[in-house]
Amino acid sequence: MSIAQDVAPSLVRGVARPVAHPVPQQSTERISQPSTQPISQPISQPISQPISQPIAGPTAASSALPWGRRYVTVRPDHFRIDYRINPYMDLDDQPDPGRAMSQWVGLVSTIERLGGTVEIVPQRPDAPDMVYAMNLGLGLVRPDGGSHVVLSHMRYAERRMETLSAQPWFERTGRSTSYVGRDGVGAHLEAGDVFAWGDALVAGYGPRTEALALKHLATDLQVRVRGVRITHPAMYHLDLAFCPLDERHAMVAPGAFDDASASALLELVPEPLLLTDEEALTTFCANSIVIGRTVVMPAGAPVRVVARLREWGFDVVEVEVDEFHKGGGSVRCLTNPVDVVLGRDVPVVPGGEVVLPPVS
Ligand code: ARG
Repeated sequence: MSIAQDVAPSLVRGVARPVAHPVPQQSTERISQPSTQPISQPISQPISQPISQPIAGPTAASSALPWGRRYVTVRPDHFRIDYRINPYMDLDDQPDPGRAMSQWVGLVSTIERLGGTVEIVPQRPDAPDMVYAMNLGLGLVRPDGGSHVVLSHMRYAERRMETLSAQPWFERTGRSTSYVGRDGVGAHLEAGDVFAWGDALVAGYGPRTEALALKHLATDLQVRVRGVRITHPAMYHLDLAFCPLDERHAMVAPGAFDDASASALLELVPEPLLLTDEEALTTFCANSIVIGRTVVMPAGAPVRVVARLREWGFDVVEVEVDEFHKGGGSVRCLTNPVDVVLGRDVPVVPGGEVVLPPVS
């Protein structure tokens, strides 16, 4: 029995709740004065389209995502369960170091075989969760072509030392870096909560990332940020419940969110592949990555989900990463895409803008 199956009964709150329609009115907070120097030079006029209109949608051709080919990952030399900051973690169920290493090697070689590139960050011995590289920071390519990382400010002190190594590593590899909060002071941001999607960065907030971080992202990056409130304690990051697949399709587990946020998120996805809580929690299937038209998923993804992806024209490659499920993360958490381009994948919005669903 896999660890996910082991812990599943206590994690699963029920199947995905039906989502109420029509979508509740969204509130739009316009931020006029950036509080810090924006890192992006506005390259376009403000988007004139009112926010209540449907977003500029992807075309029916279902173009592949332009990002997701360049990844940063952490070599798991010190992966352990030393503490419990999510319901999966159990100090009595430690990962097998050899098996974890070979699973990570398998994941890296799969990405490379599919045409992706992988940069490897060494793991700090005192940071067992650093293997979940997705949470090191939000990597972006600025409109001027330079690379930037907004470093995470982890909710739990147990993970904060990761940034102490990640920040100089990103700088050494040619990226500028910034913070929305650090060392326990200021807004918490965990990058597994943030995706480029449609006309915005979509950001989960609640268990880890705070709403205040969305305001910082919007003003610092000069983008629109659409917040979705995560309420499920076992889907503590957006990447456990949402996976962009191409410009029209995404996997969504609505049960991770409050009703208004689930509706708001589904409104942004022309063709969602809805996941039940049980599917998302026991198989980590939303925690997948996409390279062109290939979805790299944790082995054991629901047959129904794999079949639907294939119907939509995706290739599906399953990789064994169950040692990492013991810490509460899978394929997406182990990899961090650094090729999201501001002005291409996320429109520049001078002044920044935060859109939050009403509290339901
Ligand atoms: N043990 C890690 C934590 O609780 C797991 C992180 C999973 N990462 C992710 N991007 N969802 O922070």
